[in-house]
Amino acid sequence: MPAAPAVATATPTPTRSASEGTLDLIRPQPYADWAPQATPEERATLRRELEQGAVLYFPKLKFHFQPGEERFLDSRYSDGKSKNINLRADDTAVRGAQGSPQDLSDLYTLIRRYADSSELLIRTLFPEYIPHMTRAGTSLRPSEIAGRPVSWRKDDTRLHVDSFPSNPMLGKRLLRVFHNIDPAAPRVWRVGEPFGDFAQKFVPRTHGMWPGQAALMKLLHITKRRRSEYDHRMLQLHDLAKADLDYQANVPQQEFHFPPGATWIVFSDQLLHAAMRGRAMMEQTIYLAPQAISDHTHSPEAVLSRMLGRPMLVS
Ligand code: SIN
Ligand code: FE
Repeated sequence: MPAAPAVATATPTPTRSASEGTLDLIRPQPYADWAPQATPEERATLRRELEQGAVLYFPKLKFHFQPGEERFLDSRYSDGKSKNINLRADDTAVRGAQGSPQDLSDLYTLIRRYADSSELLIRTLFPEYIPHMTRAGTSLRPSEIAGRPVSWRKDDTRLHVDSFPSNPMLGKRLLRVFHNIDPAAPRVWRVGEPFGDFAQKFVPRTHGMWPGQAALMKLLHITKRRRSEYDHRMLQLHDLAKADLDYQANVPQQEFHFPPGATWIVFSDQLLHAAMRGRAMMEQTIYLAPQAISDHTHSPEAVLSRMLGRPMLVS
């Protein structure tokens, strides 16, 4: 791991500078159904924009509660240890929740329905991804984001690309479907400059692994599998961005309020994002094998390979 630069603990306050207004990564969509009727041309445009790093934003795509499910907007169903209530793809029960057996069963039904709806959305809009996609975790996040006491590295109010220390992706992409399930409060995000511009600033400050490091981390259970150089560099990019308060404040960026009932899709390993405020959200992660990506210019793997002068996905 790189030595972390000295960082202040306070959440950065972006200064709204000249960069404000120059970036527009939000692509509004008219669809109101989880199996949208889009033409092949429309689907091709969506795929191109998504792979270029935009946010596909569906203001009318609402995920409906069944009677009684509204109670799960309350954070008291979180077990206190983890803020999120999670469902792994093949599990039949949620994790991180507390309540009666009926509550836990109802939570499972709700979160599972969101997983099914999100997967249907991706399969319908991006049929080319179907052979390459794997359903990963689903979460219900029923806690206010703002003001949480977390370390800078875990502080998602700082712009970052998603990358996990213990879970190397080996080039698999992180496709995420978010939904603001709160009936009243928007979910407020910041999104930042394109990945290529971000990489230009920070990749020169990253380094490769030492010989034997990937095997040792696996042996010591620091990682679930051997970490690739791709994962090692992505993790450093995550940390370098979060640690740099000047970058956080001054990078070209855009604040966006996702209203109640809105859905949005992003590659969260590519889009610089930060979640500033919001009370309740659902999220589905889908892993996508790298060969699913048709854009060989903008993906993190393509950018890193170009900058470092060698393919990133050879392990
Ligand atoms: C994140 O992925 O960084 C957090 C997204 C959110 O909670 O809105
Ligand atoms: Fe994130």
